Amino acid sequence: MIYDVVIIGAGAAGLMCAAQAGYAGKRVLVLDHANKAGKKILMSGGGRCNFTNLGTTPQHFYSSNPYFCISALKRYRPEHFVELVERHGVEHVEKTPGQLFCATSAKEIVRTLLTECEWAGAEIRLSTQVTRVEQQGSAMRLTTSIGKIDAGVVVVASGGLSIPSMGATGFGYDIARQFGLEVFDTRPGLVPFTLSDTWKARAAELSGLSVPVAVSSGSRRFVDPMLFTHRGLSGPAMLQISSVWQPGESISIDLLPTENVAESLREARQGTPKRQLSTWLGERFPKRFAQALLEWYPDHDLARPLAQYANAALEEWAERINAWQLKPAGTEGWRTAEVTMGGVNTDAISSKTFEVKELPQLRFIGEVLDVTGELGGYNFQWAWASGVACGQSC
Ligand code: FDA
Repeated sequence: MIYDVVIIGAGAAGLMCAAQAGYAGKRVLVLDHANKAGKKILMSGGGRCNFTNLGTTPQHFYSSNPYFCISALKRYRPEHFVELVERHGVEHVEKTPGQLFCATSAKEIVRTLLTECEWAGAEIRLSTQVTRVEQQGSAMRLTTSIGKIDAGVVVVASGGLSIPSMGATGFGYDIARQFGLEVFDTRPGLVPFTLSDTWKARAAELSGLSVPVAVSSGSRRFVDPMLFTHRGLSGPAMLQISSVWQPGESISIDLLPTENVAESLREARQGTPKRQLSTWLGERFPKRFAQALLEWYPDHDLARPLAQYANAALEEWAERINAWQLKPAGTEGWRTAEVTMGGVNTDAISSKTFEVKELPQLRFIGEVLDVTGELGGYNFQWAWASGVACGQSC
């Protein structure tokens, strides 16, 4: 079998690339070892796929080369994808500012992509293993479970390592290494934290409770909800900070990001000296959480009025609330991570065409590259943008 373009991976980037290359008149084949196309799309955004973010800028991406993503993101913008889904009759909603989700189901996005592939004449073969990729002069040869396939161009769109049960493999990294490309260490990103011992038990008691926080690690800070779980902490704030957190480090959680607690407590002591700390906490936090805070720090007499708190004691409470220092035991790992940090070093890749500069018949797109978005639809926008840039130039 001979094709102009063979794409490994029928995920977000691979399907987008296939349709574009097909429309450009190329004979295109997409191979995937999974039995369904776009499995991660189907499970994304709680089944409703946060398919883009209207506020996408390169600043929302992590990469050792922060400039690499600029070109593709500039050429294929969120509005372009919105226009595409609207043409396919997909209704959508803006949940949090900028974050667009399907109004009904993520299936609508997969349907859109598969229809585009069909219209563009791109062929898709599922449940197909690729075991080898070799250079054959100026072309490429793949050994697969359906036989040998020759291709003018091979596009690796095999994604990252998160959720192995959905078909994620390190195959793309193996191909990169085989052709002499550098692969940066990978680690799970956008992943819940686990806690140990006392803090694990405390989180478990509050499991299901969500509170708005600001969380920081190093120079990064995110203001979002935090969710207590049976094993630790999750919710958007924790997922975001997990992408920059390094094992062994503490994170700083501000439980009242809009209030200077030291100042507020001093004012409360002066204005309402008979009030108790529990009342003050109860006015700011859900009852369960206010109670938990008092139990976590039993260094006070519950009946004591604020008037009897020394400055040092108020400062201590302010620190606990505005700068709670917590050392996660680890993360939930690849099993639940939404993305992979690290991946194929982009220095060897053209940011215009996504071809390997030294071997133009081999290309890498999507999450397999060392480009990872923050939470909020940025990762799909990267998959669409890199897929379009590559597909149009194949
Ligand atoms: P993707 O993973 O989509 O596709 C790779 C394909 O390659 C898969 O079909 C896989 O089966 C195939 N493959 C792998 N190895 C292979 C091999 N050896 N041979 C053949 N095929 C192989 N992002 C976002 O922007 N908004 C969101 O709402 C979410 N939500 C979300 C939820 C969950 C639970 C997860 C796990 C992830 C998200 N994401 C997300 C992230 C998003 O899903 C991800 O960034 C994109 O799917 C990446 O697109 P790719 O096409 O690069 O990989």
